[in-house]
Amino acid sequence: MPQPTGPSVAPRPSFPNSVVVGLQWGDEGKGKIVDLLARRSAVVARFQGGNNAGHTLVVEGEKVVLHCIPSGILHQDVLCVVGNGVVVDPEIVRVELERLIASRGPVGPDRLALSDGAQVIMPYHRVLDACREDALGGEMIGTTRKGIGPCYEDKVARRGIRLGDLLDEATLRRRLAAVLPEKNRILTEWYGQPAFTIDGLVAQLQPTVALLGPYIQDTVRLLHRALDQQQPILFEGAQGSFLDIDHGSYPFVTSSNTVAGAACAGTGVGPKDLHIVVGVAKAYTTRVGSGPFPTELEDDTGERLRRIGREFGATTGRPRRCGWLDIPMLRQAIRLSGVTHLALTKLDVLGGFHPLRICVGYAGQDGLPSRPDAQSSLVPVYEEHPGWNDDIADCQTWDQLPAAARAYVERIEALAGVPVALLGTGPGRDSVIHRGAPLDAHRVRSVI
Ligand code: GDP
Ligand code: IMO
Ligand code: MG
Repeated sequence: MPQPTGPSVAPRPSFPNSVVVGLQWGDEGKGKIVDLLARRSAVVARFQGGNNAGHTLVVEGEKVVLHCIPSGILHQDVLCVVGNGVVVDPEIVRVELERLIASRGPVGPDRLALSDGAQVIMPYHRVLDACREDALGGEMIGTTRKGIGPCYEDKVARRGIRLGDLLDEATLRRRLAAVLPEKNRILTEWYGQPAFTIDGLVAQLQPTVALLGPYIQDTVRLLHRALDQQQPILFEGAQGSFLDIDHGSYPFVTSSNTVAGAACAGTGVGPKDLHIVVGVAKAYTTRVGSGPFPTELEDDTGERLRRIGREFGATTGRPRRCGWLDIPMLRQAIRLSGVTHLALTKLDVLGGFHPLRICVGYAGQDGLPSRPDAQSSLVPVYEEHPGWNDDIADCQTWDQLPAAARAYVERIEALAGVPVALLGTGPGRDSVIHRGAPLDAHRVRSVI
């Protein structure tokens, strides 16, 4: 009997797609790693979060902080995609884009595509974010006040406005007419704030929409075309595993899923098209905002980490809370995202600290408890490791690192159970040591 024929299973592409995610509470150095790996990518796509993110790139001594535009944008031949899972403040994108164009030359819709399905952060979302935080008083989450939570609320409640809606004024007015009465009631009666009008919002948005209009595209189709052509795609995460709305230290979290799995829903790509997951972690830990932090150092050592590591938020300028590396959290984050490779950043910052400590467990606990209230009272169990005094900023290979630094990394690798493929030795694009097979070997590009 003849066998039925059907579509054959596509071979694994020779240029793998990768996801970069943060494994702690954000600010692990994802921007730098994405900029580095963008060399081997045709497309870099953000899939969640919004301009609560602050991703810092340092290229030839110049610092660029990106809040919404993906961190591949400094590469001329990379297409940057802001996926449907991102919440977009159009004004922020406009300013970011204008700055990039002024300093680095044209960035057209062939280099930046904003998903027509991405939710718009409206001015009332920002006001609501601030009002809700103020109302919480001592219990506040410490949000970035950029309107992220209220915008995602509206998305799930099906009363959001999407970038595509901005392209047609009649549609925008109709959508606003449906949502604004309720918003105004909450703003004026509950929070004592001024009301918004449809005319006022449309007038405020108009110049930005005129500029961004050509960039608003069907990004799902673009990504599918890239997949068909076996163009390598790099998915850029924002925030970190323990800010994840489901898996983080709820309620002290952000309003999106930050784990690698979110790259699929947030861009319209299936899981079989994700091949490598690079988890980024600092060689110690930081957190901005409220919530549990088992290894936090509220002493001189924490202050020194903050000063030497320049641990101040890229988005809000707030001082970051600092502490030792936490292995139970790292192991949990690796499982949550299926991490295949680690990028360990800011190893240089630990020079001169004696001894170094690594949290290998919590007293009386088997791993990380899931309930955040239990996470607040954990007592870390530390291993001590000899430090090193040398400045490792100039080290370009593994062998050039001081023996104590190599031993520290090897111990982390053994405890984490995943290879450290990249090691950060400074903020610059090239301040990185590669271990094992390089992750940034190839690129082809002709998607649009
Ligand atoms: P992101 O949000 O994960 O992209 O990280 P941020 O940009 O908010 O914060 C990371 C900070 O560390 C930035 O100022 C980077 O320039 C800096 N950085 C990244 N990697 C390294 C590193 O290996 N060493 C040092 N000293 N700084 C680094
Ligand atoms: P990147 O991408 C660090 C934190 C805020 C707050 C909580 C909720 O640069 O790593 P939100 O405004 O999202 O409602 O705030 O999440 N937070 C971040 N912390 N890095 C970030 O992004 C963050 N984005 C949000 O400080 O605790
Ligand atoms: Mg950041």
